[in-house]
Amino acid sequence: MAILKNIGFLATCRDKGGQGEIHPIKNAAVVWEDDTISWVGSESDLPSKYKNEKAFDADGKIVIPGLIDSHTHLAFGGWRPDEFAMRVQGKSYLEIAKSGGGILSTVKETRRASEDELYEKASGFLKEMAKLGVTTVECKSGYGLSVEDELKTLRVYQRLDEDQPMQIVPTFLGAHTIPPEYKENRERYIELVIKEMIPAVAEQKLAEFCDIFAEESAFSIEESRRILLAAKGEGLIPKVHADQLTSCGGAELAAEVGAVSADHLEKISNEGIKAMAKAGVVGVTLPLASLYTQEKSLNCRRLVDGGVEVAVATDFNPGSAPSFDLPLAMMLSCNQGRLSPAEALKGATIYAAKTINRDEKLGSIEKGKSADFAIIDAPNPNFWMYHYKGAQCLGSFKKGRKLLKGFEQIHR
Ligand code: NIG
Ligand code: FE
Repeated sequence: MAILKNIGFLATCRDKGGQGEIHPIKNAAVVWEDDTISWVGSESDLPSKYKNEKAFDADGKIVIPGLIDSHTHLAFGGWRPDEFAMRVQGKSYLEIAKSGGGILSTVKETRRASEDELYEKASGFLKEMAKLGVTTVECKSGYGLSVEDELKTLRVYQRLDEDQPMQIVPTFLGAHTIPPEYKENRERYIELVIKEMIPAVAEQKLAEFCDIFAEESAFSIEESRRILLAAKGEGLIPKVHADQLTSCGGAELAAEVGAVSADHLEKISNEGIKAMAKAGVVGVTLPLASLYTQEKSLNCRRLVDGGVEVAVATDFNPGSAPSFDLPLAMMLSCNQGRLSPAEALKGATIYAAKTINRDEKLGSIEKGKSADFAIIDAPNPNFWMYHYKGAQCLGSFKKGRKLLKGFEQIHR
C-alpha cells in the first residue's frame, strides 16, 4: 500500500459532466494497493488506518491522471527532415506526397528496418514520452503495407508492452496508403488488407483497433467502409483518420460503422459533427499535425458545442507530426483549438481513455482505477498551459510503481 500526500490540486478527471469538468480536489491525498487506487479525497479526511503507511509527497503541486497519447505512429524507419524544410518554404504536404515523398518514403525505410531496430528506436521514444507525464500510448502500424511488414510492426508493439512500463495499445493501419507495388491495382491491395492482413492480425491478437486514412488521396469512403466492416467482423474496433485535408465524409463514416474515434477532423462538416454526437464517437484533435502541415487547426469548440467529446493527441509520426510532446499538443489545442486548459486535460486523460476502450481502468483518479499519476510543476491547469515550459512533469507512477523520479518518499 502507498499514499500520495500534499497534493495542492488533484485533477481527478472523472468522466461525469462536460469537457471542462475535471472534478478537482484541493489539498488532496490518494491511496493505492498494488496497481489499483483504493481511496481518493481531501487529505484532512484520510482514514486513520492509513496514517502510518508509506507516503510520497507531491509538494503542493498538481497531480493528474497519467497522460494518454491516444494517436501515434510510434514505430517507423528513417526520418523526413528535408520535407519539413520544403513545407516551411511553401510546398504542401500533398505535393510532397505526390512527388514520391511522404508516407511512402517512410514505408521504404520501415521495410528495410529489422524488428529489433524498430523496437530499439520506439523504445527510446517511450522513455522520452514518459518524462512528459505520459503513461499510456496508442500505437499504429501503417508503414509496412505488406503482410510481413505490418505484422513486424505490430510485434514491436506487443514486445514493448511486455518489456517496459509504459502501456501500449496497438492499432492496425494497413490501409494508410496504397504501396508502390499495387499502384496500378489498388483493388488487389484492398483485398490483401481484407483477406490476409486483417485475419492474420486478428488471429495473432496483434491489434485491438483497425484505423484507416479516409481521404481523397488515400482511401475513398466506399473503400474505407469495406475495410472497416471487414475488420469489425474479425473483432477489431474501427477508428478513422477523417476529414484531415478535405471534407470527404470521414466523420459520417466513423459514426455509421460505430468507430470509437474519428481523428484529425480539421475539415469536418456540420453534418459530420451531428452524426458523431449522435453515435457517441469521440473526436481526436491533433494540433501538432496542423502546425507542421501549415493547415488551420481544428476549432474544437464546434465539436464541444455540438455535443462531441474531444480527445487531444500528438499523431507522432516522421512526416506530419514529428513531435511526441503531448503537453505541447494540449497547449496548442488551447491556443489554436480554443479548448480551455481544463478541457484539454480531460481530452488527454479520460476522453483519450475512451478512444482506446480503456475508460474503465484508465484516464481518471478514482477508486478501482489503475494507479497512474503524474505530478506537474504548476499550481493549477490554467497556469500549466499558460506558462508552458516543456519539462514540467516532476515524477510519475504507472500501475502504482514509480515510473519517473520525483514524488519523494516522506520518512517518518
Ligand atoms: O496521421 N494522415 C495520415 N497519416 C499520418 C501522416 C503520416 C506521414 O506523413 O508519415 C497522419 O498525419
Ligand atoms: Fe495519424
